Parts: sequence; structure tokens; C-alpha cells
Amino acid sequence: MKLHFRSLTTAVLSATFVTGAALAGSHSAEGNKAVQARKALMGMNGYHTGLLGAIAKGEMPYDAAIVNASAANIQALAAMERATLWIEGTEQGAVPDSRAKAEIWINPDDFGAKFADLEKAAAAISGATDAAAVGAAMGPLGGTCKSCHETYRGPEN
Ligand code: HEC
Repeated sequence: MKLHFRSLTTAVLSATFVTGAALAGSHSAEGNKAVQARKALMGMNGYHTGLLGAIAKGEMPYDAAIVNASAANIQALAAMERATLWIEGTEQGAVPDSRAKAEIWINPDDFGAKFADLEKAAAAISGATDAAAVGAAMGPLGGTCKSCHETYRGPEN
């Protein structure tokens, strides 16, 4: 029981710490973790886009389960809540390794709209019945990645 109570106290204290970090992302360990977490999210976007691209190019055999799972996972990644990942004060230059432009926090609605575009483009890939159909839907998908990167991702560090 005692141990249980102590873990609970620790959990509550950590939650308080995270809330504080959200208010002042820069110079905080939690801000740095947020950068790593959102880069992992983007890495998963890259992984699933890579699978779809390989199928579209015939480098991997067409497999409906892989196509639909990749599309569903990109949709889920695009729909993730942003408050814990895109913490204000974690823009490029403010914390190590970040390439997120400060414009994200100046135009949060537009940034969110670009994720909504990605979600729609990924949904359009579900049910593609052959490699050519996957390829046809890849153009619009890649366009949504590119559009956001051009606007909201800074140069390489
Ligand atoms: C709404 C905006 C947005 C969309 C849509 C988007 N990205 Fe990103 N992406 C970013 C930003 C901003 C960064 C830089 C994040 C950072 O460094 O903190 C990034 C970084 C990346 C990275 C580098 C990750 C790393 O480890 O440094 C990859 C890979 C990536 N994106 C792939 C994709 C792919 C593939 C898609 C489309 C399927 C996509 N992104 C869609 C905004 C977006």
C-alpha cells in the first residue's frame, strides 16, 4: 500500500512538472523531450510513406493489409493532439535539435489545417486496390508533407 501511494504521489508531481514545462518550453528537459517525441512522430510518417512508395514503385509486392495499415497509421499520426508535442518555446534555435519554425505558434490554426490535409490525403489511400492506385494517391499525400515542411520546417541544423 505504501509503495502504491508513493508511486501515485510521484505521478502527480510529474504531472505538475509537465504542466509547468508546457508554459515555459524552452530551457526545460520536457521541452527537449517534446522535440524528440514529435521527431519520432515524423519518423513514423516517413516510415509509412516509404512503405507506400515502395509498393507504388513495385519494389514491394502489393499487399492490401500493408497499404491500409500505413494509411490508417498516417491518419492517426496526423490527428494526434499537438499540445504535448508542439510546445511553445521549442522552436529552432531555442532548444537543441529542433527545426520547428516559430511561425507554428504564430499561425497555429494554419499549422493544424495542414495536419488535417495530411489526414485526408492518407484516408484517400485506404482501399487502393493495386500499386497504380497507391501511386496515384501518393502525389497528393507527398504534397501535404512538402507544403508543411516548406512553411514550418527550418533549415538543417
Ligand atoms: C503540419 C506540418 C507537417 C506535416 C503535414 C508533415 N510534417 Fe514532417 N515535419 C514538420 C516539422 C515542423 C518538422 C520539424 C520538427 C522539429 O525538428 O522539431 C518535421 C520533420 C520531419 C522529419 C524529420 C524528423 C527528424 O527526425 O528530424 C521527417 C522525416 C518528416 N517530417 C516526414 C514527414 C512526412 C513523410 C510527412 C507526410 C506524410 C510529413 N512529415 C508531414 C511538419 C510537418
